[in-house]
Amino acid sequence: MAGVTMAAGCGVSQALSAGASHEGLRRIAPAFGTVVVPIPSRCKVSRRVKVEAIAEPIAKSTVRTIEECEADVVAGNAPAAPPVPAKPKAPEGTPRISPLVMPARPRRNRRSAALRAAFQETTVSPANFILPLFVHEGEQNAPIGAMPGCQRLGWRHGLIDEVYKARDVGVNNVVLFPKVPDALKSSTGDEAYNPDGLVPRCIRLLKDKFPDLVSQVIYTDVALDPYSSDGHDGIVREDGVIMNDETVHQLCKQAVAQAQAGADVVSPSDMMDGRVGAIRNALDLAGYHDVSIMAYTAKYASAFYGPFREALDSNPRFGDKKTYQMNPANYREALIETRLDEAEGADILMVKPAMPYLDVIRLLRDNTALPISAYQVSGEYSMIKAAAAAGMLDEKKAVLESLLSIRRAGADVILTYFAIPAAQWLCAERI
Ligand code: PBG
Repeated sequence: MAGVTMAAGCGVSQALSAGASHEGLRRIAPAFGTVVVPIPSRCKVSRRVKVEAIAEPIAKSTVRTIEECEADVVAGNAPAAPPVPAKPKAPEGTPRISPLVMPARPRRNRRSAALRAAFQETTVSPANFILPLFVHEGEQNAPIGAMPGCQRLGWRHGLIDEVYKARDVGVNNVVLFPKVPDALKSSTGDEAYNPDGLVPRCIRLLKDKFPDLVSQVIYTDVALDPYSSDGHDGIVREDGVIMNDETVHQLCKQAVAQAQAGADVVSPSDMMDGRVGAIRNALDLAGYHDVSIMAYTAKYASAFYGPFREALDSNPRFGDKKTYQMNPANYREALIETRLDEAEGADILMVKPAMPYLDVIRLLRDNTALPISAYQVSGEYSMIKAAAAAGMLDEKKAVLESLLSIRRAGADVILTYFAIPAAQWLCAERI
């Protein structure tokens, strides 16, 4: 029994390996004066909670038959039961009114934690999270000023530690973002498909340490910006135009290099036209039929990417990304991208950022049967962190509410820098 009483933040895997079956626990629990309360998320963790009293045992010799008990009641001698509790008093000065006549009182379904849990429509679980990780060539982790609590991880040590920490709380999906040395950046971003580049090395190391695909999914980012001396997602022509088809050619090589290293899901975040179909084709030709594509379908030209660009030192050297990323004013346009990415063979469709674009998440949810992901981007993370540090918000409550809202809007999975703390909070939560 000891193995199923979960301490705050303990691993989902440990609960399962303790062999805790809900049914089994429920059957034996009364003997211990406890009840088993499943946690209201999809976290597979049970918890024993003390109840106030259990029934007094009845001595075998005094047990009466059902017929005798019924005869007493029929004869008007009902056994004693506790009295109806007195009505709770309202404070002095409360107006005395006759109750409003209302056919429905929605508050009835919210009046206790158990009722609220029973009728909860949306849940969040660590299984829904994808953790973005920044990696660099250094041996030590380096803090990221604009994203307190996030670091550029040393690829050999810090990365492995962080992935280990994530797995321990049930976060088995990670996506890698590299900080590439300036000397390896070029206008055509060729380092992106170097088979010994930082990302392929990280993938190989992770697959070596955590070989089981069932419990570890590695996503990669497909775009040229970390490798581009211009800080753009594509090749920049002399006149500043981002060249579409030539960039797609590079992206295909990048995706194949990542697949070759062992990536499970490649995620084009560049917003070039036709890249999903071209990457699908390139992967298939190279024999990577099982590697999935998570398309950044509705990726908006957003101010909320600021801290990320500091993290990777990937700010555009000139101009902005408005000729390829979507206009934040546009809603219907997301449907055009959705139809194309579906037709081109995407496995998962993404909306990015998340919180300012909940309407777009819902739009995709209602218009595709494919899984939807949403990216709670760096700026969304930093806003909550800054407000919490200034004492203006309760960090835990704000984070969990933001993640729940993104799920409610229709996202299946959420890329979030809060994945580890959020998973810890969810695993520790009680009804
Ligand atoms: C670049 C890329 C960006 C993010 C993910 N991939 C930044 C950008 O488009 O400029 C942003 C993620 C974040 O802000 O957390 N291909």
